[in-house]
Amino acid sequence: PQEPLVLGIETSCDETGVGIVRGRTLLANAIASSMDEHARFGGVVPEVAARAHLEAMTPTIERALADADVELRDLDAIAVTCGPGLAGALMVGVAAAKALAVSLGKPLYAVNHLVGHVGADLLQGPSLRGAVGEAGELELPTIALLVSGGHTSLLLVRDLVSDVEMLGETIDDAAGEAFDKVARLLGLPYPGGPQIDRVAEGGDPNAIRFPRGLSLPKDMEKHRYDFSFSGLKTSVARWVEKRVGAGEEVPVADVAASFREAVADVLLTKALNACKDLGVPRLLLGGGVVANARVRELAQERALAAGVELRVPPLSLCTDNGAMIASLGAQLVAAGYAPSSLDFGADSTLPV
Ligand code: KG4
Ligand code: ZN
Repeated sequence: PQEPLVLGIETSCDETGVGIVRGRTLLANAIASSMDEHARFGGVVPEVAARAHLEAMTPTIERALADADVELRDLDAIAVTCGPGLAGALMVGVAAAKALAVSLGKPLYAVNHLVGHVGADLLQGPSLRGAVGEAGELELPTIALLVSGGHTSLLLVRDLVSDVEMLGETIDDAAGEAFDKVARLLGLPYPGGPQIDRVAEGGDPNAIRFPRGLSLPKDMEKHRYDFSFSGLKTSVARWVEKRVGAGEEVPVADVAASFREAVADVLLTKALNACKDLGVPRLLLGGGVVANARVRELAQERALAAGVELRVPPLSLCTDNGAMIASLGAQLVAAGYAPSSLDFGADSTLPV
């Protein structure tokens, strides 16, 4: 039989994503982002994001169908992110997916956003360049490090649909959020991640030793795989304030490079600790922070040194998108799982 044709809807943060896959083959990945509308607030505003999803939903669905050259009636199933994420934003996607499923008489699968990021790595297709590792060859078990503006999570994935374990996550800011906040205090525009990345290229990563959150021996028992970035952000703020207070010029490039180094170091130290402790020789990266040049470079260096196979989907599948949700949905269909009953809601703190 043909592999299942699945449409996936993602609205957990500021990206309205609609993707279409046939099994593991990517057919469409349409995205509309409300990032520009959040810029003047210096961060994603939940209410603004929800309204933007509502406006973007129908055109984005239409674009995905056109890109994939399929019609709604051809679909075998619909998949939708039901959490974790911003409650109001999630609700728009869930409501749209239910409306589609009911009106078309198609099965609906509610899926977890974080597991969706891992599902992205299953996809193959002609347009998937820029990946690390062979496209569509996800092997399990794997450790997955998911780093974006909304989450920073370390997962142990033994089976994509039935066995995903959260090893650790941030106890305060997400890594991308830390980039955005530090960029703001350095006077760089939002979103700050790409700005810091750019400015850091001209700086010395060893100029200032910023703290690596939750890495002291006393932290390692309870928080071995957890992250904390708020202390790092405060430390950067203090360092900058001191220079400004003394009437000295702030070496922005050195601060950016040293901050970026601290984030990349702690992310990859903890991820590779997990690989080693648990005897899992694979590491998968996902989330918008994967665009960071130093994170990518250090991941390659450390994985090579540890004998760990590194996998990074192309960036278009690392940032939030609907194709990864469709991909996970297709796995659920193929594995014979029953569809979700229509009474599920959005769950902003949904566990894996
Ligand atoms: O996955 P993503 O597109 O979606 C959300 O979290 O909504 O991630 C966006 C985050 C932002 O915080 C942005 O500053 C960060 O990823 N980011 C980066 C880079 N590019 C995007 N952080 C560090 N370096 C980058 N090059
Ligand atoms: Zn995400």
